Order: sequence, then C-alpha cells, then structure tokens
Amino acid sequence: MFRIVEARTAGLNIRQYTIAAPRIARKQRPGQFVILRVKENGERIPLTIKSADPAAGTITIVVQTVGKTTSLLNCLETGDAILDVVGPLGRPSEIKKYGTAAIVAGSVGTAMALPTARALMDADNHVIFIEGARSREMVIFEDEVRAASHEAYILTDDGSYGEHGLVTKKLEEILTAGRKLDFVLAVGPVPMMRAVARVTAPLGIKTMVSLNSIMVDGTGMCGGCRVLLGNQSKFACVDGPEFDASLVNFDVLMQRNAMYRGQECQSLKAFDQHRAEELAQHRAAVATKEKETAQLRAKLEKQGLEAQGETHHV
Ligand SMILES: Cc1cc2nc3c(=O)[nH]c(=O)nc-3n(C[C@H](O)[C@H](O)[C@H](O)COP(=O)(O)OP(=O)(O)OC[C@H]3O[C@@H](n4cnc5c(N)ncnc54)[C@H](O)[C@@H]3O)c2cc1C
Ligand code: FES
Repeated sequence: MFRIVEARTAGLNIRQYTIAAPRIARKQRPGQFVILRVKENGERIPLTIKSADPAAGTITIVVQTVGKTTSLLNCLETGDAILDVVGPLGRPSEIKKYGTAAIVAGSVGTAMALPTARALMDADNHVIFIEGARSREMVIFEDEVRAASHEAYILTDDGSYGEHGLVTKKLEEILTAGRKLDFVLAVGPVPMMRAVARVTAPLGIKTMVSLNSIMVDGTGMCGGCRVLLGNQSKFACVDGPEFDASLVNFDVLMQRNAMYRGQECQSLKAFDQHRAEELAQHRAAVATKEKETAQLRAKLEKQGLEAQGETHHV
C-alpha cells in the first residue's frame, strides 16, 4: 500500500499526488516514471515522477483524467492509498551541457518535463520552456516552469491566457529570430510532438520526444509499448520513454494508442455510472488490507519475541 500524503488540484481535470514511496524517491532520476495500480484487478498505468524528496521518502506525480483509471485515481484524496507503485522505470533523460535547450510541453507534459528542465539548468544549459495548454484553466505549474528555466513562454490554444497559439508557433518564432537551439525535448500529445519534430528536423536540431505508448508490465516483457524507430522495434518502457524524434514513426504510435478506444470508452462510461461505489469499495478494500497487515505484523512480532525468549532460555 502506498499512502497519499498530499493530494491537490493542479488544473482542470489535473491532480497532483505526493505519495510515500521511499525506495523510489531515493533512486529516481529525471525522465523516469512509475507504473501503478490503484486497486486489485485494476489496470496498470504509467505516470512520470514529477519530483522526489528522498529525505521525506515521497514522490510526486501529476495525473490528467482521460479514462477509467485516471478518473478513479483523481477521485482520491490525502490519506487514501494506492495498491501498487512500481519504479523508477525507464531510462532517465540524457542530461549534459548542450548549450541552449528548449523544452516544449503540452498539457500534462509540462509536469512530466519539469524534472528534466531543472536538471538541464543544473547542467549549465540556457533553458527555454514553452508551455502550451488548451485554455487558461489547463495552464499548470507556471511558477515552477519559470523557476526551471531562463526564459518561459506560456501559450493557450484559445488565447485565454498568455500568448494565443500553439507551442510550435513560439518555437518557430524563436528559430526565425535567428536563435540557435542545441537541444529540444518535446513532451505532450502525440500530434504536438510530431509537429515539433517537423519544425526541428530540417534544421538538424537534436530533438527528443517522450513517447506515451500503452504500457502494461513496464519491464520489456509484454510488448505492449512497442514503438517503431526507422525500421527497428523498440520498447518504450525499457528503451525509452525518450527517443530521437527524427526516427519515430508517429503514425504507428497513434494507431497503437487507439487500438482499445472502444473498450476504453465503455469502461469509462461504466465507471461514471458507479463512481461513488467504486471509490467506496476501494476505500473498504484498503481498510481491510491494512487491518490484515497490522494483524500479520503483530503476529510476526509476537513470534519474534517468543523466538528471542527461546534463544534466551537456551
Ligand atoms: C512513460 C509514460 C509516462 C506518462 N506520464 C504521465 C503523467 O505523468 N501524467 C499523466 O496524466 N499521464 C501520463 N501518461 C499517460 C497515462 O499513462 C495515460 O493517460 C493513462 O494510462 C490512461 O489510462 P486510463 O485508464 O485513464 O485511460 P484509458 O481509457 O485506458 O485510455 C485513454 C488513452 O490513454 C492511453 N493509454 C491507455 N492505457 C495506457 C497505458 N497503460 N499506458 C499508457 N497509455 C495508455 C491511450 O492512448 C488511450 O487511448 C504517461 C504515459 C507513459 C507511457
Ligand atoms: S510495457 Fe510491456 S514491454 Fe513495455
């Protein structure tokens, strides 16, 4: 069981959770993720570690509601628990001194890109952060974005906050102004990452994209997260999630991500009809599990004491 020590709303349908996970907190590096399962028989979903506090033994994740599992997760509050959290998984971002690095992030991708932006700053890069969101209420972590960059630009699709337009507009403006970019990381919806790749490829700018392929085990065994790079198959969970954008076959990624759309819509619909019961069942299951764990612990402690007593007699 992994206890939620703080839950808060970060934006429209976007929640941030700080979870007690000391071993993951000690090991995690920028760009890595966890795979969690909220409850028994639940789906496993990958979520990027936004930050970790090894001293407090916590990690922080940010979740955008898109389907059944993220809907259930985003109903949880401080004090609730998550059944399994496995990680850190995936290869960390490659952090080195590139020169000028641009982070282009869309939607919840902003939270996912923040640790890499901070690490690139620490590695003495000049960091430009371009954050895009559909509208004002989806602009997240603006203060953290500003703190993790030397220049920050916020854009909304509808112009309700920051500059009006898409992140690629700002990226093109920067390049058209004659600025030299040595490295670009794009994190967000697949069409956005593809659009960024189309801007940077003709200029030969090293560009990485963080691929959100469907994952199950996160260990390279199930094949669920297979992506096509040139004509080579890779597994996003162990070979990625960041890949050279110029090699990624985005069409295949989109096709594979849409494979279960019918079932996903059905299960979200069913969840929406039984939201309150599902949440109550989850909390009851957590309470039962905790009671069983406490009983087991007490039994083991007692056995330990008895064993110590026996040793003493001998
Ligand atoms: C390495 C990685 C890191 C991620 N980090 C974050 C993050 O920090 N915050 C965040 O909000 N989202 C993140 N995602 C996406 C997140 O995992 C999906 O939104 C989530 O799995 C959807 O589950 P669902 O049941 O709510 O939706 P579903 O209804 O199951 O699916 C909705 C859509 O989400 C995608 N999806 C479904 N199942 C999975 C799965 N097991 N793995 C990946 N994508 C899936 C599909 O494209 C699908 O069409 C990340 C994905 C990857 C691969
Ligand atoms: S999630 Fe199973 S191989 Fe990557």
